[in-house]
Amino acid sequence: MKNIDSYAHARGESVYVCDMPLINGTLHASVLGSPLAKGNIKSIDTSEALKIPGVIAVFTAKDIPGENQIGSIIQDEPLLAEHEVDYVGMPIAVVVAESEPIAKKAKKLIKLEIEKLTPITDPRVAKKENSLIVPSRTFKLGDIETAWNQCSFVYEGRAEMGGQEHLYLETQSAYAVPAEGGTFKIYSSTQANWYVQKGVSKVLGLPLHKIEVDVVRIGGGFGGKEDQGTPWASMAALAAYKLNRPIRLILRREDDMKMTGKRHPYQFDYKIGLDKNKKIIAYQCECFQDAGASADVSPAVMERTLFHGCGSYFVPNVKITTHCCRTNFPPHTAFRGFGAPQAMFLFESALNRAANELGVHPTEIQKINLLKEGNEFPYGQKALKCNAEKAWQQADESFNLKKQIVEVTKFNKENNDYKKGISVYPLCFGISFTKTSLNQGRSLVHIYTDGSVSVSTGVIEMGQGVNTKIVEAAAKTLGINVSRINITSTNTTRVANASPTAASSGADLNGKATINACNEIKEKLIEIASTILKCDKSKIEIRDESVWNENTKTDLAWKELIMAAYEARVPISAHGHYSTPKIHFDKSSEHGSPFAYHVYGTAITTVKLDCIRGIYDVESVHIIHDLGSTFNYDIDKGQIEGGLAQGIGLMSIEELTFNPDGSLLSNSLSNYKVPDIYAIPKECKVEPLRSGPDNLALLGSKAVGEPPLMYGIGTYFAVQMAIKAYRPSYELSFSAPATYQKVLRALYNR
Ligand code: MTE
Ligand code: HPA
Ligand code: MOS
Repeated sequence: MKNIDSYAHARGESVYVCDMPLINGTLHASVLGSPLAKGNIKSIDTSEALKIPGVIAVFTAKDIPGENQIGSIIQDEPLLAEHEVDYVGMPIAVVVAESEPIAKKAKKLIKLEIEKLTPITDPRVAKKENSLIVPSRTFKLGDIETAWNQCSFVYEGRAEMGGQEHLYLETQSAYAVPAEGGTFKIYSSTQANWYVQKGVSKVLGLPLHKIEVDVVRIGGGFGGKEDQGTPWASMAALAAYKLNRPIRLILRREDDMKMTGKRHPYQFDYKIGLDKNKKIIAYQCECFQDAGASADVSPAVMERTLFHGCGSYFVPNVKITTHCCRTNFPPHTAFRGFGAPQAMFLFESALNRAANELGVHPTEIQKINLLKEGNEFPYGQKALKCNAEKAWQQADESFNLKKQIVEVTKFNKENNDYKKGISVYPLCFGISFTKTSLNQGRSLVHIYTDGSVSVSTGVIEMGQGVNTKIVEAAAKTLGINVSRINITSTNTTRVANASPTAASSGADLNGKATINACNEIKEKLIEIASTILKCDKSKIEIRDESVWNENTKTDLAWKELIMAAYEARVPISAHGHYSTPKIHFDKSSEHGSPFAYHVYGTAITTVKLDCIRGIYDVESVHIIHDLGSTFNYDIDKGQIEGGLAQGIGLMSIEELTFNPDGSLLSNSLSNYKVPDIYAIPKECKVEPLRSGPDNLALLGSKAVGEPPLMYGIGTYFAVQMAIKAYRPSYELSFSAPATYQKVLRALYNR
């Protein structure tokens, strides 16, 4: 089935917040952010701004009728700065005007008096100064203290990984419309309409039922709109509340880049120990997460770092510690992979270091340390239906790993100015929100009297194709054509308390809820059919738009069946609920079984390095990916290729740079580089892992949204191998991204 959005997307007909026709009386808002990374606000003078013709109002913290608080996990984030500013770009005032350019012009006239303080811009410094958002946490397995004695080789070192700009095509956007009876309808570009509803409700001091949040789709989120859709919607709602006018707030790209949080940069210490057979016996690490100025979802991201500390490997003795460090940057937030890429980059760094010291290709160590069936993760869960070795073997067979390594070695012997590097990256990613309670989905299914079907769920379409999957799931369950089904916007009045569309679980949770709703209706329909056809209901099926009895098509067609059900006054609507069974986690012991299942895979990456210029191409990436049993391979392949491209960007050219004063230097697309058509692999082959369906996945098809991003990690280590081939005395360096500047320096030891 084709993606249901592709036709309208290609024609530019899909509607985003900025495409919505303006409602009469609409005003436009622009947000003034802090110029300083840390300081005390002495005064805010809006008088000059208010003199500009067309300016209607300027709102600051003191105008908030409810609570000036939008923190989700921890209540530490004001909507608008009141007494102090904590990062450059922190919202201080909302200017409302007849047009957005007027509002933008006026905000420059607001006079701020801020006493400048010294910001914290390094997570290690934050840790030292005890500037932590939540207490540090440790996951343990085995006995790390005695394990070092069993090791023949022990290596220690440091690593670091930079953040990443989400760069969703649609910037943060909201449109707040006051309605009758003191209610508000909010159109928001968010991955979490329930979070927006809660934020607005708190800021306005109104109960949740007075706030309706509607999302047709969003132009990409990648995690950047899980928590961070909320502030902009809340500001628009604040202005709508005060002025009783519709308010549209759409961030300009430069403001979006400056004011919103990104993927968390991390600093690391590691220690790895191997026995004489290159078995990894012990692994210890300390992760300093740069959380930015407020909690946002950082504690949850930190938790996922802990869960993925050993990547796709089994290590019998482990100690992983993470610190959630408060710094003076925008609150860093969810980003595809959610803390796991950082953990996995670190483990691969430690492993590559060991391989380099021992003078072997890293694959020799990787292969013998892969997770095996029944191995225990450092949080108690067992690796069941473990596909780590299976994925590696299939990659080896399908893409002839040995031959590829030989070819790279041969190329390096024959060439001086160009060198190649090859790496293998094994993936293991846990599916489910690590916060167990979020693992629930809901769906509202209506069948109309003409036989057409409307489905509303809690999931938000952001380009990942989840709505298409849900339509397919509903059609398969009801036994009708997909053309009969329409999927509506995601709306808090149709589906309440929806978990964010995140953790790659959107399709599983909301798709299964849809199947439950459809089955509830189908049961009733089959009863009606058995009455009409006077036959045993256990023999009845609905398929191909007709009722079948004992495998024979009857004359009772879908439309007639629906009309009969209606006439019989039987409900042909249902609200389905699904919650992932069995998962649990106990934070006090840091033990449990938090994931429904794990997704596995293997990527082989080859890069070609131009040793004169320091630039490199990703020549090929060959991927075996575990989809369970896919029912829409085109969509899944799109997610694998898109995730890979984003992961390559993370590891290669996407570099966030900040001034020492805490302001963002890479604040536009001319100085923040994302992969373009030239940066993606020249050859990208994807093959599904030969594995079966997983019952906890939607129609057996495993979650695919985030895991493939991590295949990008292979690029970093392939580049390291290529540098080493040019300069054999090179000591590997673990500082992602591998920008061309860093690579050039490494080639010439500068
Ligand atoms: N794909 C597109 N095109 N755009 C996006 O914003 N977000 C990713 C992934 N794939 C994203 C995407 C992230 S971070 C997640 S968690 C999943 O999609 C969410 O959707 P799912 O749960 O339906 O997989
Ligand atoms: N993954 C992604 N988003 C989340 C999670 C998670 O585990 N928990 C809360 N938000
Ligand atoms: Mo995805 S980072 O869980 O929105």
